Amino acid sequence: MTPTVKVAKQDEQREQAFAIRRKVFVEEQKVPLSLEMDEWENDSIHFVLYDGDKAVGTGRLRPWEGQSGKVERVAVLQDYRGQGSGRIIMKAIEEYARKLGMIRLVLNAQVQAQKFYESLGFQVEGDIFLDAGIEHIKMTKALS
Ligand code: COA
Repeated sequence: MTPTVKVAKQDEQREQAFAIRRKVFVEEQKVPLSLEMDEWENDSIHFVLYDGDKAVGTGRLRPWEGQSGKVERVAVLQDYRGQGSGRIIMKAIEEYARKLGMIRLVLNAQVQAQKFYESLGFQVEGDIFLDAGIEHIKMTKALS
């Protein structure tokens, strides 16, 4: 695999990100489409991971309180998991956030993905809560 992460600047790239999210969150995890797409799409920077020409992963970043960035909708197609794809997406988001001057990343991790984020330096804050019927936990990482 020759992975490249791009910031989605064109509609086609955004659509590729949304298609991956539909596959992973709506089809696989049964999150209702009405919750999966939200009012923050236009305020977010969307990232797409490509294997050659094929879009295989995604994630989004949006400004959050206190010079922070919120990371959301991180997803990798099933066939591409366990090969470092998620790590590549998160590293690209982190690098971009630093360039924007963000000092901290915040995310609500699905509990089943907590170890993934821990391996990237995120730490748990607070207690488990339910969102779209799935257990989540807040995690943060200082970028300084
Ligand atoms: N549980 C425990 N560890 C995990 C893990 C999991 N579910 N997923 C990844 N890891 C670990 C890997 O072992 C690896 O650790 P290492 O560096 O010690 O080898 C590290 O995290 C990076 O893994 P990577 O291969 O880059 O992850 P991935 O490409 O499989 O992507 C997800 C991880 C979570 C994005 C992917 O599994 C996915 O899309 N899942 C479905 C959607 C989802 O749950 N998204 C998260 C919503 S909060």
